[in-house]
Amino acid sequence: MLRSITCGELTARDAEKKVVLCGWVDSIRDLGGIYFVLLRDRYGITQCTFIEEENRDLFERIKSVKSEHVLKVSGTVKLRSEKDINKKMKTGEIEVLADDFEILSTSKLPPFEIKDEINVSEELRLKYRYLDLRRPKMQENFILRHKVALLVRNFLSERNFLEIETPFLTKSTPEGARDYLVPSRMYPGRFYALPQSPQLFKQLLMISGFDRYFQIVKCFRDEDLRADRQPEFTQIDIELSFLEMEDIFNLIEPMMVEIFRLIGVEVSTPFLKMDYEEAVENYGSDRPDLRFDMKLFDISDFFVESEFKIFREIVNGGGVIKAIKVEGCAKYSRKRIDELNDFVKIYGAKGLAWIKLMDGNFKSSLPKVVGENTLKLIFERLKGGEGDIVLIVGGKREIVNTSLGELRRKIAVDENFIKDGDYKFLWVTDFPMFEYSEEDGRFYALHHPFTAPVEILEDNPLEMKSMAYDIVLNGLEIGGGSIRNHRVDVQNKIFEILGIDEREREEKFGFFLEALQYGTPPHGGIALGLDRIVMILAGENSIRNVIPFPKTTSALCLLTGSPSKVDISQLEELKIKIIREE
Ligand code: AMO
Repeated sequence: MLRSITCGELTARDAEKKVVLCGWVDSIRDLGGIYFVLLRDRYGITQCTFIEEENRDLFERIKSVKSEHVLKVSGTVKLRSEKDINKKMKTGEIEVLADDFEILSTSKLPPFEIKDEINVSEELRLKYRYLDLRRPKMQENFILRHKVALLVRNFLSERNFLEIETPFLTKSTPEGARDYLVPSRMYPGRFYALPQSPQLFKQLLMISGFDRYFQIVKCFRDEDLRADRQPEFTQIDIELSFLEMEDIFNLIEPMMVEIFRLIGVEVSTPFLKMDYEEAVENYGSDRPDLRFDMKLFDISDFFVESEFKIFREIVNGGGVIKAIKVEGCAKYSRKRIDELNDFVKIYGAKGLAWIKLMDGNFKSSLPKVVGENTLKLIFERLKGGEGDIVLIVGGKREIVNTSLGELRRKIAVDENFIKDGDYKFLWVTDFPMFEYSEEDGRFYALHHPFTAPVEILEDNPLEMKSMAYDIVLNGLEIGGGSIRNHRVDVQNKIFEILGIDEREREEKFGFFLEALQYGTPPHGGIALGLDRIVMILAGENSIRNVIPFPKTTSALCLLTGSPSKVDISQLEELKIKIIREE
């Protein structure tokens, strides 16, 4: 090796050792006659000292060195004097008195400084991602990501799971997003789809008898992107035969315990369980954040015969009136309430009503006809007190739940109700099997169509529950899975309810329906979002910070400039003609 030791290792015990270091010039300090070069690699930073009096020639040469040049420095480890010890640096007890150096590589002036606290746009960081990745926090994130992946591999392997690869050039598997398509040159007009997940292949592996499978695998989904979504992301994908739902919980919980030990956090098990309906009714979300309270309360009963016509008509028309209490926020100004009012409108709510209790008096945006007694009773139901505000939305159940659920999250963030270092896991179970799209006039599977129903209710599919479960952490869905249909008749029934006729079934899933008929063991599994888990562990608020080369929220790679145009000859080979360019 060109170096004898890394930049993060030397301590007082190494005093007087001869060493050779290689690294990037992190910073330079010129004290006139003494020149400090801080040399960085992924292990840390070491101070290299050049003294004019000791070696004039060397001193002159070091002055030409610039930030981010790559140096090889040789010298002797020296103890720092008491007053110069830097307790914040791993190598803060020592410095290396240089006797020679070599510039291994020069660097252009970087577009931003390589340090953690930089005020630079994400666009620029992504364009120069290789420099961004030199920042210590980013290096930490990827070291952590590696540790998580390694732990998962060992954990599962010790429990008899086999890591088996499944293809990327494959056929569409419905997970609710659009497919990325890859044209076939050999069969013009035909396409492979990049997998949205290895769902069908992992089920086929169960049929093959590999009764415990896992894979740390890329999945591809063309969907709207957000802070926690990327078009290509990584799943810890798991499938088992001969299991019951509890077996999944008993496998994943201790794995999470071990993963969180990597950041020194002791997670307690068993995780809380909540059924879907309870989650949606009480928290307005199927992935409730339990780090704070602010539950949704149904207050419809106060308005059944109310003189307040708008709410009365909502309740009598099948809608609901629900409320959340925000402690200590009776102080909200008109402007703040207007802002929250606009916020709930994003989710389809017509508006936001409020009741405050200040100096023993109720104040409210509700009309006088509601009466002070009702305001008092509402406050009582929500266990409100002096200085609190109750925020109210009325309308269709779904809109009320979603808008109050989102409002609950927003207020918790805005008001700092969330403690740092708090991790609240939750299993959400008893999902409905289907949801109905008014727009498309058809049912969709809430998880995916391979999920087993608890029972089949042909006349009332919306009442059917599925054997699916999600794992939620701090309001984020970090994984989901289900027990599958191992009987072909049940699988066919689900397709029927989904309105997928026999011809379409044969064309899209014929191979799978055929396979189900050759001795399929009862099976089920789960997929965890590795990026999301590492994001939470690393304390980041975007998965882009734990993916080395991510796309922007508009699905662009700013580093390589993809997606990009291709040569006309490539298109000709594929027999593809662009009919419209944007
Ligand atoms: P699901 O679609 O719930 O299930 O995906 C599993 C987990 O993957 C993560 N995830 C994502 N992470 C980043 N970017 C995305 N675009 C993205 N989409 C999903 C989430 C999610 O919980 N085949 C089933 C699993 C099964 O049934 O076993 C599946 O893919 O954390």
